[in-house]
Amino acid sequence: MEKTFLMVKPDAVQRGLIGEIISRFEAKGFQLIGAKLMTVSEELAESHYEEHKERPFFPELVQFITSGPVFAMVWQGEQVIATARLMMGTTNPQEAASGTIRGDYGLIVRKNIIHGSDSVQSAEREIKLFFKEDELVEYSKLINNWIY
Ligand code: TYD
Ligand code: MG
Repeated sequence: MEKTFLMVKPDAVQRGLIGEIISRFEAKGFQLIGAKLMTVSEELAESHYEEHKERPFFPELVQFITSGPVFAMVWQGEQVIATARLMMGTTNPQEAASGTIRGDYGLIVRKNIIHGSDSVQSAEREIKLFFKEDELVEYSKLINNWIY
């Protein structure tokens, strides 16, 4: 089953939006298989965003993502990588459609609420970067006979 790495960024943690963001992916039907509140070190930030290291905004991006706790998650489900990106909206929240997470909660590009992997390769890389294998929990809801 496809997996993706999603991260509630420091702005959204400060604003109390963790629950709201989790709710959207749960309601959509995706399955949460790993989650933790954590602080991102400068080393981890630089490695996570290494594709942007030559961009002018890189230093401020690293500064922002290390500025406070983030909520890191792994979600699983059919087409979860592309669908999560659609649910997040475009990178710049000013252009993101209403009804998307960035469109509904964000105002400026750096503080755009949420990160989501953009391909199978980046999902695999980012999940490994943030989670140990034993921090991911694979489970089926169907084997719980108390759910009808
Ligand atoms: P990017 O990977 O292009 O966007 P996305 O998060 O939608 O995959 O950029 C990574 C992050 O860098 C983005 O979420 C916000 C930040 N950023 C800036 O701060 N300034 C910019 O001009 C851009 C393009 C991105
Ligand atoms: Mg990206």
